[in-house]
Amino acid sequence: MSGELLRGPAPSPADACLPAPESAWVYLLRCPDGSLYGGWTNDLARRLQAHRTGKGGAKYTKSHGGPAVRLAYAERCADKSAALKREAAIKKLPKADKEALAAKWAAENRSSIRMATPADGAAVAELYNWYVLHGTQTFQYQLSTAEEYAANIAGVLQKAPFLVATTPDGRLLGFACAHPWHSREAYAWNVEATIYCAPDCVGQGLGKRLYTALLDLLRRQGYYNAFAIVTGENKQSHAFHKQMGFTKACVEKHSGYKFGRWLDVIYWQYALRTDNTPPEPVQYTLPDAVLADVLAKVNG
Ligand SMILES: CC(C)(COP(=O)(O)OP(=O)(O)OC[C@H]1O[C@@H](n2cnc3c(N)ncnc32)[C@H](O)[C@@H]1OP(=O)(O)O)[C@@H](O)C(=O)NCCC(=O)NCCS
Repeated sequence: MSGELLRGPAPSPADACLPAPESAWVYLLRCPDGSLYGGWTNDLARRLQAHRTGKGGAKYTKSHGGPAVRLAYAERCADKSAALKREAAIKKLPKADKEALAAKWAAENRSSIRMATPADGAAVAELYNWYVLHGTQTFQYQLSTAEEYAANIAGVLQKAPFLVATTPDGRLLGFACAHPWHSREAYAWNVEATIYCAPDCVGQGLGKRLYTALLDLLRRQGYYNAFAIVTGENKQSHAFHKQMGFTKACVEKHSGYKFGRWLDVIYWQYALRTDNTPPEPVQYTLPDAVLADVLAKVNG
């Protein structure tokens, strides 16, 4: 044998991870009587759940609507101390100014969900690459290119949905897609689902809208199971998948190595159909009217 011996990728070291900004938010909640409640949190989704369930939420929201309170404003701050200062400043604002903040936020973050096209490749790659560089949500080391994602979108759409959520001015806030799980024919009714929201859009209900549409479309196509592979330390995604009705299927210990540490992955499974009769072949493309019906429900 001559020449260099072939090797796999070099393990990514801890210092390759770009520091993610601290998670610190100020928010306003709309209560059913029209009043606005302000607070701060380091986990918007968890805090919203606490307000809605009354477990660990504020007395005010518990007695002013509980499950019916809605997010009316969210602003990401540099750190806890900045969030506390901003919370105090917002609380002092006259009601009209709080209403103006909420109206501006709603206008800027209004998003609609549609099927992606290869032209979305650059925006999808940019959003995804943030997670490649900043975290272990994805096991990818190298950045994706716009061309790769354009090809990926075109490939996915041949058999499953690739959904994007965009603002009226075209900003991408999140995407969700699925692809067949394994190539052997007996697996033809299973998909792996993927979802990423922009870091400033997490915890605001977008993931739920994207997954609701994705799972509905997959069910109508005739798929039976959606699997999600979630990094052990990705608590946000575990909470999300559990809340969306997935059940924990199995754990792969020590399954990946990124940013200087070994990582487990957990498989979550969602049963789209449960009947025991022989399945119909999956319908890779759905009529436009079906797509419009599903999207109308999450864009309404
Ligand atoms: C995981 C992710 C897609 C979830 O989307 P999201 O928009 O943040 O979640 P939503 O606000 O729509 O939450 C949907 C439900 O999950 C619950 N949930 C979400 N995050 C949660 C958390 N951190 N703690 C508790 N509950 C949580 C919400 O309370 C909500 O419950 P509801 O049905 O009572 O409204 C999003 O946070 C994200 O993109 N994270 C980074 C990338 C990532 O991890 N992707 C997944 C890779 S496997």
